[in-house]
Parts: sequence; C-alpha cells; structure tokens
Amino acid sequence: MEKEFSGVTLECRQGDIVNQKDCEAVVNAANAQLETGGGVAGAIHRAAGPGLAKEASTMAPIKPGEAVITTGHNLPNEYVIHCLGPVYGRDKPEDELLARCYRNSLKLAEENGITSIAFPAISTGVFGYPMEEAAKVAFATIIKQATTLKHLKKIRFVLHSSKDLEVHEKILTEMRE
Ligand code: APR
Repeated sequence: MEKEFSGVTLECRQGDIVNQKDCEAVVNAANAQLETGGGVAGAIHRAAGPGLAKEASTMAPIKPGEAVITTGHNLPNEYVIHCLGPVYGRDKPEDELLARCYRNSLKLAEENGITSIAFPAISTGVFGYPMEEAAKVAFATIIKQATTLKHLKKIRFVLHSSKDLEVHEKILTEMRE
C-alpha cells in the first residue's frame, strides 16, 4: 500500500532490502562498527561486496540514533545509509533514539539530493524492538518531517514477512498528517 503526506509517498512492501532496484538509497540496520552482521546488515554487506565494509570502517564506530552514508558498491542502489538503532530495553529512551535514526537518515538523504529511499524496520530484529511500536515511531517521525523534504519524494518500507507488512499497513492506515 501507499499513502501521500505533503507530496511525499510513503509505501509499505514485502521483500528484501537488497532488491530495491528503483530506490536511489537503501538503509542498513547497522551495528556500531559498521561491519557485516546478521539480518539486514548481513544481506546488505553480502550483496554489496567487501568494498562496503572497507568504506564504512573509516566512519565507525557510531552511536545509537546516528547515521552515516556510503556508496552502494555492488548493490543496485547509489547509496547506503547506515544507522544504528537502539537495543530495546538497553538504549534509552528507545523511542527517541529510534526517531533519531529516521530523522538522521532523512537528513543525509536530503543533503545528498536523494529522491527515493528504502528502509527496513530498524531495531525490530536482533535488537528486539516490538514491531507495532517501532512502526508507529517510524511513521510519525517521517510524516512530521515530510513538509521539510525537498528532494525525497518516495519513502519505502521493506518488510521481510507478510505479518510484518500487515502490521505496518495497519499503522500506516491509521496515520494522519
Ligand atoms: N530485507 C528486509 N528486512 C529484513 C532482511 C532483509 N534482507 N533481513 C532481516 N530483515 C528484517 C528483520 O526481520 C527485522 O524485522 O529487518 C528487521 C531488522 O532486523 P535486524 O537486521 O536484526 O536489525 P536490528 O534489529 O536493527 O539489529 C541490528 O543486528 O545484524 C545485526 O549487526 C547487526 O548488530 C546489528 C543488529
């Protein structure tokens, strides 16, 4: 599904973050060292090749809520924005740190003139953030920023499972400007 907020299209799709050919940038649910890992980070580093970790290593470590940008290497995308989500129950306040991930990613995208971006559900895997709560924070943060976005016109959420997609679609349906 998709919904428009101040001229910005917000979409939810089921799929794999490394297969978003029509997005200029993809977001990595990174670790502090910006190394390969499990889940999204593993998939992104495998698909991008070793050049990605090499480029990213010069910017590590990052703190929860921070984001950095690299090129896409062997990915079909021009850029990768790496952000470190909060570990649920440890990095507090979780909602503010998660919101910061989205705000900082959007800021980097704008600074680089990026027009389309795909996000995974940051922190909802290994880091344990409940899916529904995370979706509310993510959408509310993005919708709040929508009026300030000059370049970015398409923001996609890529959910791994049909259940996660359903949760996101339900929350997005409820969201108002
Ligand atoms: N494409 C899209 N979504 C995916 C993919 C994929 N290829 N792989 C996993 N996901 C989903 C998960 O199901 C989860 O909902 O992305 C969400 C985020 O999961 P993680 O990748 O585990 O990210 P996070 O919870 O932020 O934890 C980050 O995990 O891999 C390690 O090194 C990484 O330490 C870091 C931590």
